[in-house]
Amino acid sequence: MTHDFIYHNPTKIYFGNGMLAHLPEEISRLGSRVLLITGGSSAKKSGLFDKVLAEISQANVDCYGLSGVKPNPEIDLVREGIRLVREKRLDLILALGGGSVLDTAKVIAGSTPYDADPWDLIRNRAAIDTALPLITIPTIAATGSEMNASAVITNPETEEKYGWTAQAFRPSVSFLCPENTYTVPAYQTACGSADILSHIMEVYFQKEETFPATEAYMEAMMRSVMKDAPIAMADPANEAARANLLWTASWAINDFIDSGHAVSWTCHGIEHELSAHYDITHGLGLAILTPAFLTYVLDETTAPRIARFAVDVMGVSPKGKDTIKIAQKGIKRLRKYFKKQLRLPTTLTEIGIDDTRFAEMAEKTIAWKGTKDGLLHGFVSLSAKDLEEIYRLAL
Ligand code: NZQ
Ligand code: ZN
Repeated sequence: MTHDFIYHNPTKIYFGNGMLAHLPEEISRLGSRVLLITGGSSAKKSGLFDKVLAEISQANVDCYGLSGVKPNPEIDLVREGIRLVREKRLDLILALGGGSVLDTAKVIAGSTPYDADPWDLIRNRAAIDTALPLITIPTIAATGSEMNASAVITNPETEEKYGWTAQAFRPSVSFLCPENTYTVPAYQTACGSADILSHIMEVYFQKEETFPATEAYMEAMMRSVMKDAPIAMADPANEAARANLLWTASWAINDFIDSGHAVSWTCHGIEHELSAHYDITHGLGLAILTPAFLTYVLDETTAPRIARFAVDVMGVSPKGKDTIKIAQKGIKRLRKYFKKQLRLPTTLTEIGIDDTRFAEMAEKTIAWKGTKDGLLHGFVSLSAKDLEEIYRLAL
């Protein structure tokens, strides 16, 4: 069943190598005092940082910098950014980097107009309706933050990592240049691709089906990410593969595939707990947890959907097998894909995580994402005990 919905995605996209030439005109259109936010060293090493500075200088604006955003970005740097924006009276945010940089930029842009600590705004899922304008230049195909309304921030003191969604977060403009992702190492390419796949699977593996056309788009998107991720890992400057990953990343989580569709984001809920407690890479956590989740929820009601995935995405032959067996084979192939093609660890044990904190993380997921009945309702309804078992299956 598809529910009524409004679709409004105002982010203007410049796609293609060479499109950064339009950055000065967009900066001039949106502001005059700019905060440029960056991550660690990758953009400086690749020369992209200097290239962006050269474009900014053509816009005739004042520009200040905030650097050092870490993966699993932290609330303290957000606070520092807000101070800087207020002190220098900045009116435009420019984010250059991965999803962590983009998310930091969104929360700075959305918190500055409000007289509240940004962590309280996140914890309260504050319904803000204004934010500073934001331009993004993503450097990795992964989160889709460049075209969506969400940001995910970590508070290391409380070991919490939460998403905050507000329409005001949508970037005004994003520059998607495949060549800006050529320097992404194989491991990050694999994790980013696992994240894209998970964004699609979170929508695909739900109780309710959506438009038949959307079901087929999702399958095509998954097949094509699965094909291009290993190509980009082996041949980092392969423009076709990088371009496909970058564009699919944006469309996997810009409200297109899940319009009118209830989504529980179960694997993301339990993964955010893992990366909050163990600071692991988000996409890696998803690659480990997703096959465990599918194994746990597989029963007669979920088997037809998982079997369809097995046949249409993982290439399992349906001949002579019952639905449960086809589904099991699909899950096995998915795990094998993460291991052999993306070369990622496929168990929590391999990355040094044991069961010590499973119960706590499961409870926290339910407290944040669950409903009043203590369950997370999605593909199937899950309690904290169920989530704990999924972690255990991933050991
Ligand atoms: O910091 P630098 O030096 O740039 O290095 C980064 C970082 O080490 C590197 N990298 C990025 N672009 C590169 C590059 N290295 C070489 N060349 C390039 N072109 O990659 C590493 C990871 O960067 P990060 O920004 O953390 O990656 P990603 O884009 O995967 O973002 C992950 C964060 O986004 C959140 C995740 O939970 C995690 O905190 N998410 C955000 C979402 C959203 N806003 O909608 C949804 C997602 O589901 C996700 O939860
Ligand atoms: Zn994700």
